[in-house]
Amino acid sequence: MTNIQLITPKPWAEYELIDSGNFQKLERFGNFILSRPEPQAIWDKSLAEQDWERRAHAIFRRDRQSPERGDWQTKPEMRDPWYVTFRQDGLNLKFKLALTTFKHVGLFPEQADNWAYIYEKVNRLSAKVERPKVLNLFAYTGGASLAARQAGADVTHVDAVKPVISWARENMDYSELDNIRWVVEDAVKFVRREVRRGNTYNGIILDPPAYGRGPDGEKWVLEEQLNELLKSCADLLDRSDFFLIINLYSLGFSSLILDNLMQPLFGQVPNSEWVN
Ligand SMILES: C[S@@+](CC[C@H](N)C(=O)[O-])C[C@H]1O[C@@H](n2cnc3c(N)ncnc32)[C@H](O)[C@@H]1O
Repeated sequence: MTNIQLITPKPWAEYELIDSGNFQKLERFGNFILSRPEPQAIWDKSLAEQDWERRAHAIFRRDRQSPERGDWQTKPEMRDPWYVTFRQDGLNLKFKLALTTFKHVGLFPEQADNWAYIYEKVNRLSAKVERPKVLNLFAYTGGASLAARQAGADVTHVDAVKPVISWARENMDYSELDNIRWVVEDAVKFVRREVRRGNTYNGIILDPPAYGRGPDGEKWVLEEQLNELLKSCADLLDRSDFFLIINLYSLGFSSLILDNLMQPLFGQVPNSEWVN
């Protein structure tokens, strides 16, 4: 039996997916509209090319020599950096956005539903556990960490890249929060050590890329290491009451694969709530 459910994000005033197609997406973040690549948008655009050009304040142009990088062609009114807020179900977060050479802007808007889930879950846990402990792995600029912290959790934020951690710290300040434990480390190494120390968490969030590197060059390859990492995460969870969120964007990794990974670890957990 599988537990696959399709979740569509609630509308968010400061974000809008305006159009997508021909391997691109047109999005509004606050006051500014961006056009950037989207490898999964294999269908045709709904709007005309001139419409995209007219609406976009910034357009990402891939570098021919190294296509994973590029630069932004911007209109005079474009601001960089700029800021957006996320207000929903009691959450009130503020993020700095910036045009990076990797087409990313410092926020994955599709994560918004996870932030709301984390906030609600930590609030529920707080009825039983004083300051629930939450671990966010591959945590980037911290959307999930801030959602857990705003609900009163004791948060540990792990990422391999120091400038990304500094960006997350800025987002914590803009959101008027404090006391997040910042860890610049390889996620697998950190989790292994936490298991050895016998530490436990009430919530774990992981959003692994297909491929990455730890600060000391440790290689992360999703299909090779995910099973082991999930087993270690299962050992770190306080089984009395917990939540685990895992995001998998990588092409070819369906919910069914995730189901097969999770069943042996959590299939027998009584009253477990499980959404894939
Ligand atoms: C897709 S992003 C995560 C997005 C984040 N969850 C969010 O919602 O904002 C992946 C992150 O993994 C980090 N990363 C890559 N390899 C890593 C490793 N071996 N250990 C820890 N973090 C790593 C990258 O620096 C990047 O910030």
